[in-house]
Amino acid sequence: MQLNSIQDQPDKAHAPVLAAELAGLLDPRPDDTVIDCTFGAGGHARSIAGLLGPDALLIGIDRDPVAGRYFELFAQHRSFRCRFMHGNFADALSELAEKGFEADLIYLDLGVSSMQLDRPERGFSYSYNAPLDMRMDPGARVTARDLVNELPAAELERIFKEFGEERYARQIARRIARERQRAPFETTLQLVDTIKSAIPTPARFGSGHPARRVFQALRIAVNDELESLARALDNALEVLSPGGRLAVISFHSLEDRLVKKFFAGKTGRCVCPPDLPQCVCGARAELRIITRRPVTPSAAEVSENPRAQSAKLRVAEKLR
Ligand SMILES: C[S@@+](CC[C@H](N)C(=O)[O-])C[C@H]1O[C@@H](n2cnc3c(N)ncnc32)[C@H](O)[C@@H]1O
Repeated sequence: MQLNSIQDQPDKAHAPVLAAELAGLLDPRPDDTVIDCTFGAGGHARSIAGLLGPDALLIGIDRDPVAGRYFELFAQHRSFRCRFMHGNFADALSELAEKGFEADLIYLDLGVSSMQLDRPERGFSYSYNAPLDMRMDPGARVTARDLVNELPAAELERIFKEFGEERYARQIARRIARERQRAPFETTLQLVDTIKSAIPTPARFGSGHPARRVFQALRIAVNDELESLARALDNALEVLSPGGRLAVISFHSLEDRLVKKFFAGKTGRCVCPPDLPQCVCGARAELRIITRRPVTPSAAEVSENPRAQSAKLRVAEKLR
C-alpha cells in the first residue's frame, strides 16, 4: 500500500494524543527496550525516541501494513536498533513472551489512526462513500460488509448495543435485516441512510452523527478489538521486566473499563467473598498503579486535535 503526499510526512499523517504525558510517565532510560504496540505513523515513538540512546531497542507493532511504511521512515534516522512486527499486538506480544523476551516499557494507543479514518477506501468513516470494509489489516478475513449482510439481526443488535451503546440497536438491526433482503449492503453511505431511516427523527439531529455508534460497534467487531486488548494486557505483563511500565491510551469506556479492571486485578487485592475464613483466590500483587485517575488531554490539546477529546491514559509498573 502506497502513502499519498500528505501521508508521506509522518508528523502530518496523525497527531499523537497525550504524547508529552505518555513520555513523562513512561520516563525512558537511554538503554531501555521499548515496545510500541500501535505504531501508526510513529508519533509517540518519535517523542520517546529523543530520550533513547544507542543501546536502546524499539519494537513497533501494527496490524496495518501502512504503519510498516512509516516504521521504515522512522528507523532510517535512529542511532538505536529498530524492529517492526506486522500483526495483531496480542499475537506479537505472545510470540515475544514465548521466546522469553523482556521489555522495559510497553505502550498501546488504541483505536484507529487518522490515516485509516481519513482514507475513504478503508471504509471506516460515515462521512465518505466507500466500500463497507473497516479492517485495520486489509489481509484479515472479515469485513464490515460481511457482518452487516450475514449476521442474524439479533447478533447485530447485540453488537450495536454492546460495542456502540446504541439506544436504537434493535430498530437499526431489524431495518438492516429487512433492507438486505432487497439488495446486499455494499457501501458506507448505504448503511448511514438505513441507520437514519431506522431512528426517530429527533435522534437524527441529536448530539453527534447518527451513525457514529453503529460504525464504532462494527469497527470493534470487525477487528475483534476488545478481545485483542484483553489478550494483549496479559501478554504484555508477561513480557514486561520487573520495574517496567505498561501504558494504555483508550478512547471509549469499553476499553478504559477493561484496562482499569485489569490493572486493579493485578494489585493483589483479595477478591474472595468476605465470609471466607481465609483467602483462596491467591491474589498476588504484580502491578503498582502509577495513575490513580486516568490522565486526560488538556483543553488546548483538544481544541487543536478534537480526536483527543475522549482519550484516557493509564499507567502501571510491574513489581520487582
Ligand atoms: C491511534 S493509532 C496509533 C497512532 C500512533 N500512536 C501514532 O502516534 O502515530 C492506532 C494504531 O493501532 C493499530 N492497531 C489497533 N489495534 C491493533 C491490534 N490489535 N494489533 C495491532 N495494531 C493495532 C491501528 O492499525 C493503528 O495504526
